[in-house]
Amino acid sequence: MCGIVGYVGSNSSLEVLLGGLRRLEYRGYDSAGVAVIGEDGTLSTRKRAGKLAVLADDLEARPMADGQTGIGHTRWATHGGPTDGNAHPHLSADGRIALIHNGIIENFAVLKQELHDDGFTFDSETDTEVAAKMLGREYEVGDGLPNALARVVSRLEGAFTLLALHQDEPGVVVGARRNSPLVIGLGEGENFLGSDVAAFVEHTHRAVAIGQDQIVVITPDDVAVTDFDGNPVEVEEFEVSWDASAAEKGGWSSFMAKEISEEPEAVANTVLGRVDDGQVVLRELADVDDMLKDIDRIVVIGCGTAAYSGMLGKYAIEKWARVPVEVELSHEFRYREPVLNARTLVISISQSGETMDTLMAVKYAIANGARTLSICNTQGATIARESDAVVYTHAGPEVAVASTKAFVAQITALYLFGLHLARVRGTLDPTVAALQLAELQGIPAKIAKVLKNGAEITQLAKWMSDSRAVLFLGRHVGYPVALEGALKLKELAYIHAEGFAAGELKHGPIALIEPGQPVFVVVPSPRDPNSLHAKVVSNIQEIRARGARILAIAEEGDVAVLPFADEVIRIPLAAPLFEPLLTVIPLQLFAMELATAKGLDVDQPRNLAKSVTVE
Ligand code: F6R
Repeated sequence: MCGIVGYVGSNSSLEVLLGGLRRLEYRGYDSAGVAVIGEDGTLSTRKRAGKLAVLADDLEARPMADGQTGIGHTRWATHGGPTDGNAHPHLSADGRIALIHNGIIENFAVLKQELHDDGFTFDSETDTEVAAKMLGREYEVGDGLPNALARVVSRLEGAFTLLALHQDEPGVVVGARRNSPLVIGLGEGENFLGSDVAAFVEHTHRAVAIGQDQIVVITPDDVAVTDFDGNPVEVEEFEVSWDASAAEKGGWSSFMAKEISEEPEAVANTVLGRVDDGQVVLRELADVDDMLKDIDRIVVIGCGTAAYSGMLGKYAIEKWARVPVEVELSHEFRYREPVLNARTLVISISQSGETMDTLMAVKYAIANGARTLSICNTQGATIARESDAVVYTHAGPEVAVASTKAFVAQITALYLFGLHLARVRGTLDPTVAALQLAELQGIPAKIAKVLKNGAEITQLAKWMSDSRAVLFLGRHVGYPVALEGALKLKELAYIHAEGFAAGELKHGPIALIEPGQPVFVVVPSPRDPNSLHAKVVSNIQEIRARGARILAIAEEGDVAVLPFADEVIRIPLAAPLFEPLLTVIPLQLFAMELATAKGLDVDQPRNLAKSVTVE
């Protein structure tokens, strides 16, 4: 959601903050602001509604005093619309403290009333300003900013990362977190704070993730972390493996275009180092292999695209490891009292590793005795840290709001896990397992081939830019792909789109078909052992007879679809389970191209943010 950056050192704060905010803008982009203690010792703030560029232009037109201590924020509005006034930072009543916030303070109304009764007035509609006013009041006790912050957070409910600085304490930035991420960047004579490592990866690769209910104080030469009661906490440093340039557009028209182009590497890198003697070995699971032998059920949870990758994982894990798998949206799982015990493995999938719905579901699973494993793309992320074990996807930083390369990396990680589990439980003949692995290893080159033929998709997107609704059909592993294709189109091109299981069509959705209705159909291979190909071709005929315009995604050489399809997008041959890694690519490209044809911002679609850290 919101992006947060803090800096203390000897360089220009404004430069560091704006650079950090630029890399964090994917977390929220409806307003941005900074607060800096200037060389003259006075605190200045500047905040503007709109994208970061509006703030940057404003600062260029009306420069503000720079200094070596500062905080910056890019917002995804929760309480109060995206206005200059509601943008962060917010100030204490005396204007000497500036504070920024990510998350939601759930008891803010009660606290606001209390402050109101004490004579405080407010300039914004935000929950954040309540914390700023409280911090100002607590600071008057006279025992310094960290203690004042500790007293404030002890009264807050909900999710928050807070950063604050005081005009009288240059060279100090304090932070606190609960259920919302905060990472320290360790520099030489300078230190950083950020919602994630993207905030400071340009300056340092040494990082420390702050734990739940902890407070951090950074100065240029020191970092100190305590719990909310002031007890010192041991921290663990980690090396950020992402290169700063990985989070740059590097000549591409958008981050999304760049990230789609990186899909072959996302798959290859996720497999890399996880193969031993032709078999999948996930060494990071060595400590939990005994537990994996003992589980009798798996529940996969995630949201949006991550949940669709989970649906695909179910097909592979059940087939290879013969353990029953259920897939559920994290927020539905969390609030329906699911049956869990020590033989249930809950696998959470999250690119960011921060999605609040998924984090809360993981915590619920732990509290109710289940075992947990997370599939995450972000090192040191909260969900990864909470889980018994983690299998990282190695897709590199995903900046565009719509998930693309993380999706194929998640499928890859789930398939690797399925093969690992099958080996540990002895459910799959090693020769068959080796063949599956070889199939997976061949996928990057096949994705590259699909990407090479992207031009026809651009044409398709152009003629469809006036479409009011698009339907997507798939069967078996093609079904989650259909759901994902529809999600991409909704979120990027703002076109009504629905994905259906092709077999479900005649149970209702076929009523939507009218002459000219575009329908993408993910066609299984004619070599499919379940003979689903013939069934999908029949489904195509049923809707074509009612006037639908058919866009088939079919494997090379499949001639059976030709008489019934208006357009055919070809994908290379792959074993059925692996087809989604190929069939999803044209759908991602299509959504991107159609949004581009409509003149929309594909990296930052309206109303969305990359990491959804509120429930
Ligand atoms: C869609 C998309 C979202 C995310 C979802 C989960 O393109 O990106 O649906 O997949 O918000 O996010 P993570 O994976 O970070 O938990």
